[in-house]
Formats: sequence, C-alpha cells, structure tokens
Amino acid sequence: MNIGIDKISFYTSHYYVDLKTLAEARSVETDKYYIGIGQEKMGIPAPDEDVVTLGASAAYPLMKDGELDDVELLLFATESGIDQSKAAGIYVHGLLEMPSRCRSVELKQACYSGTAAIQLAIGFVARNPTKKALVICSDVARYELGSPGEATQGCGSVAILISANPRIMAIDPESGYHTEDVMDFWRPNYRSEALVDGKYSTMVYIHALLESWKQYAELSGRSLADFNRFCYHIPFTKMAEKAHQKLCRKNKIAIDQEQMQALLEESLRYSRITGNCYSGSMYVGLTSLLDTAEEDLTDQRIGLYSYGSGCVGEFFSGVIQPGYRDHLYADQHRNMLENRSELTYQQYEDIFNYGVPTDGGEYVFPQYKTGPYRFSGISQHKREYESLVD
Ligand code: CAA
Repeated sequence: MNIGIDKISFYTSHYYVDLKTLAEARSVETDKYYIGIGQEKMGIPAPDEDVVTLGASAAYPLMKDGELDDVELLLFATESGIDQSKAAGIYVHGLLEMPSRCRSVELKQACYSGTAAIQLAIGFVARNPTKKALVICSDVARYELGSPGEATQGCGSVAILISANPRIMAIDPESGYHTEDVMDFWRPNYRSEALVDGKYSTMVYIHALLESWKQYAELSGRSLADFNRFCYHIPFTKMAEKAHQKLCRKNKIAIDQEQMQALLEESLRYSRITGNCYSGSMYVGLTSLLDTAEEDLTDQRIGLYSYGSGCVGEFFSGVIQPGYRDHLYADQHRNMLENRSELTYQQYEDIFNYGVPTDGGEYVFPQYKTGPYRFSGISQHKREYESLVD
C-alpha cells in the first residue's frame, strides 16, 4: 500500500520586505542578498498573525474542500510555538471545526519537526488505512535586527494531508537520518529571536546531509542519478544549491550550473520570495516544485532532505502520482504571492519591535490584512482568534 501526500497547501503572510530595502538600511550591496544568499523578499507576519493563524490559513482550503473529515491525527510542527503547554494544533482544530475524534500534538526539533510529523503520520496511516493525518508545519523565522541572519527571516505554513493511495506523492519506505548534539542554532525560552552560529550551521547542515544520504543510498540501493528533482530544507536558496553541489562532489559527480538549475530551480521559487519558514521550508520547496514545474512530473522520483539545527537531518524520497496536478492549489498560491503588500523599512522595524503583550492585561488587536483567520486579542491570559469566513 502506498502512503504519502494526498494534498498540500501553502500560506504566507500578506506583508513582505524586499531585501533591496533591507540592503539599503544595512549599507550592504543588494547582490549580497539577491545573489550571495539567493533571497529577494522575506514574509513578515502582521501583528495579528501567529503560527496558529498561519497554520489554520494553510489548512483552510482543505477544510473547504471537505478533505479533513477522515482526519484522526493532527500534528503541528513548529519552532515558534505560542504556549509552553497547549498544542497550537488544538486552536487550529477548533478554528477548522474538525471532528473531536482526533489526536492532536505539537512537535519541536527546529526546522526538522515537520518531517518527523510526516513519518509519524505515515505510521498512523499504515495502521489505520482508511483514516488520514493532517500535518501542519508553521513558523515565523526571526533573527536580531542587523544580525547576519536577518536577511534570512520569513514566515509561512504548509498543511499536508497524509493518506493511503495518495493523490500527489507516494513516500518511499527508505530513509536515512542523523542526530547529533550540536549548538548551531537555538532559541532559549526567554528569547523571541534565534541565536545562531551562522557559518557553523551551514557546515553541520551539510555534514548531516552526507550522513543521511549515505544511509539512504545503502538502504535503497539508489544513486543520485535515480532522482529527477531534489527538494532541500531552504534556510536561504543558496544553501540548497551548495548542499547539492557538496553531495554531488562527495559522490564524484560533476554538475554545472545548468544541470543544477534543472534539478533544483523550481523548488526554490517560492522560498526566494517568502524566506525561511523553518519547519515548513522543505515543504514550501516541494509545493513550489509541484506548482511551477512546466514538465509533467508524474512517476518521477524526488529526493527530499530535511534539516533541523541542533541537529537532525533526514534524506528520504517520494514518487509523484498520476493526475497530481488536479489536486494542487497552484492558482491560489500564485494569487496569494502576487497580491502581497510591500513594507517600508520603518514599517518592518515597527512590526519587528512590536511584541505580543505579556502582562496579563486585556487586549483587542487592530485588524491588518490576513488570511481567513486572525489573532484578535488576549483576555485572561488566553489568546483569542477570529474567523473571517463563514
Ligand atoms: N554580490 C554577490 N555575492 C556576494 C556579495 C555581492 N555584493 N557580497 C557577499 N556575497 C556573497 C558572499 O561571497 C557569500 O557567498 P559564499 O557563501 O558563496 O562565499 C554570500 O554572499 C554570503 O555572504 P557572507 O558569507 O559574508 O554572509 P554572512 O556571514 O553575513 O551571512 C549566514 C551568511 C551566516 C548564512 C547568515 O545568513 C546566517 O547566519 N543565516 C542564519 C543561519 C542559517 O540560515 N543557517 C543555515 C544552515 S542551519 C539551517 O538550515 C536551519 C535553519 O533553517 C536556520
């Protein structure tokens, strides 16, 4: 029985900063961002958005299409959780009016937890083949103003339905994975911005890739030539390209820029203009590939590398299913990305410096442009969410 991705929907904030604007404010050449790290825009969440509203907005099209009725497992993967105790997915479960017979839990391991959730969901479906699992990867990537990581911020969420006989991608059983206790990127509970040892993090990302690939290759008997495309975790698009170069070099395969573009470029398009979405980044890449590849990808095998600092890496793969194009939300994604509003530098800094109140007071938040759900206020230490749709 094939198990894998039955539906995939992506959502990002309505607001973004062009990295030209940031480059000017930081007295850096725009090309450092546009070319050097390969990023053009970064998504900035409005003050009335958080990982719950981003996640619920990503899953909303699935709910509208009646795709959530058989879901009995809701896994919410995030680095930027909003409560030390309650799973963010339970708010989403409520907003989406999902059936009460459902297990809900939040998972954390930096940018890797989305892939852990997918693998756990596959196990659940193997045991309950008529049921489905909803995986939501939702994050806001934040680094300090003026820090090297600042240009790699972003936000977004991906809602992924896992089922038997999936309509989009069957996930292969083989997987290579690697855990190692390192401090390349972390965020203590008292901080709202990540701490990162930037250059070191790029080295650990690659080390975990090589280790994961080695296992995957041994287990599956496949070589790099068996893949038609690759999707990498994308903290910034240049990282994915560098990682693939390293993987090829390690396997003694020469690859020029044109070949690299053919294997990776479609998967990098959305991330280049939304930024890092941490747990969702690789799945934003997969959505970008599925939505924007002109070539029909049916029956093609895609290599997937997920990485979360701290660290865990996993290399796995999937095969695109016949008719997959009929089940994408490509038009909605395009409309969303084409109709965003650009922020000035000052607006960006004001939003960045705005913090969700922590004094236990009563608050009603002003309404910005959001998706179908918004974070409307706080009362008695409880977050309140509002649905803007029927
Ligand atoms: N034109 C073209 N290119 C230029 C340029 C110009 N004018 N100026 C600089 N560049 C190039 C540089 O040569 C460099 O390219 P190479 O890497 O090929 O040498 C590139 O732009 C970046 O320049 P720097 O190395 O000087 O950049 P930096 O040190 O200021 O920042 C970074 C880079 C350390 C990765 C920083 O963005 C960072 O800390 N990012 C956050 C951490 C991160 O994303 N790590 C990735 C792995 S960890 C992970 O994946 C988990 C996660 O999601 C966080």
